[in-house]
Amino acid sequence: MANHDPEPFRIKMVEPIRLIDRSEREIAIQRAGYNIFGLLAKDVFIDLLTDSGTGSMSQEQWAAIMRGDESYAGARSFERLSEAMYEIFGFQYFVPTHQGRAAENILSALYVKPGQYVPSNMHFDTTEANIRARGGRPTNLVIDAASEPTNRHPFKGNLDIDKLCAFIEQVGAENVPLGMITITNNAGGGQPVSLENLRAVAATYRRYGIPFFIDACRFAENAYFIKLRETGYSDKSTLEIAREIFALADGATMSAKKDAIVNIGGFLAMNDQSLYQRACNELILREGFPTYGGLAGRDLEAMAVGLYEGLDESYLAYRLGQTAYLAERLLEENIPIIEPPGGHAVYLDAGQLFAHIPQSEFPGQALSIELYLEGGIRACEIGSVMFATPDPQTGKIVHPKLELVRLAIPRRVYTQSHLDYVVKTVCKIANRRESVRGYQFTYAPELLRHFTARFAPLEERLPVP
Ligand SMILES: Cc1ncc(COP(=O)(O)O)c(C=O)c1O
Repeated sequence: MANHDPEPFRIKMVEPIRLIDRSEREIAIQRAGYNIFGLLAKDVFIDLLTDSGTGSMSQEQWAAIMRGDESYAGARSFERLSEAMYEIFGFQYFVPTHQGRAAENILSALYVKPGQYVPSNMHFDTTEANIRARGGRPTNLVIDAASEPTNRHPFKGNLDIDKLCAFIEQVGAENVPLGMITITNNAGGGQPVSLENLRAVAATYRRYGIPFFIDACRFAENAYFIKLRETGYSDKSTLEIAREIFALADGATMSAKKDAIVNIGGFLAMNDQSLYQRACNELILREGFPTYGGLAGRDLEAMAVGLYEGLDESYLAYRLGQTAYLAERLLEENIPIIEPPGGHAVYLDAGQLFAHIPQSEFPGQALSIELYLEGGIRACEIGSVMFATPDPQTGKIVHPKLELVRLAIPRRVYTQSHLDYVVKTVCKIANRRESVRGYQFTYAPELLRHFTARFAPLEERLPVP
């Protein structure tokens, strides 16, 4: 049976969790409009909704928090963060933001005009929404292997270079104000991107004169995957690999709530001075002064320490080992998942598990609700609720290729026995899968609807429109 290496830390502070009764869970999910985002955290037993901002900070980070310099301008905490930023990412300039989407908002405001295209391997939902909010058209050009759940390609997050060239030729480089790539590819299973691919992507964007920005949320996990899987990198440190990655780009956005293991924070970094100045103006309007940008001095300190801890190789070996453990245990039980597992999460293939529920009735939503009802587990749908959109020409709904449920693993929070409980719960649901029905919307906002949508269970199958 699968096992993972012991955690390279011991527990110094605990937070009690409680599994409320099934009848209470039924009331809670109904009250939440059958949307797990509407649940109260106290009613959740194992919270795998996200790995974003949910990690445990270390004693060094808590100690750094006490050093926070809360000066409005030019704080020492900003200097300390700047040093870490420069050593790891190497960009000339950066602005702190309160989280990743604030950086995406500024980037989109500065670059994207209505009707323009922004290619990537796959944009995450907030990136996509920020581009759309400026009238832009986010375009996903990940390799085909990404949508083949059992294809064990080592770098399933790679961007398809042929597709990228054809796409730029088709829409015209003048209509592509910037190009992106997400490492690791969260929307596609947390899959890594190889350095070989990153080099080719950078060269392609450069050839067409298109600025290249990396969504760096999980850069450290991506760097460790490169160390483990890409020829020529086993002797390089994750820091060296990270530096090599970012030397290829013109800038980056990051939600530090991921690989910087903080509860809040982010940044937008770049090399272009005039872009930096314009970013500062946007930042001052919405976030704060450029040396704190929507964060407290103490948050900057925690981020400066966390950026290095996220790159620590004993931590990364445990982190990727824990994810692989959950994936292997599920596979042993014949539960369909995206293979190989990514860095931060295991993605259940709800489309396959609930093959009797059509995409229009949200099999992923149904699975996320069952996880809660069966075991008090909260997990996030990444399928038609999140990504189905009407075709701008025909108005017909275009469904994503996969209907997934993401079991995101918070950093340094849960133990092997918590994960064993998750496996047991998924198995119980799989054993009675035929009894599970789909859902329909009773309310859905236009953008980022998964956060606030409400649903009703379908007693019977909807007629096919
Ligand atoms: C790849 C990716 N990009 C951007 C974001 C947005 O970050 P934030 O939630 O801090 O706004 C996320 C968050 O989950 C993400 O996974």
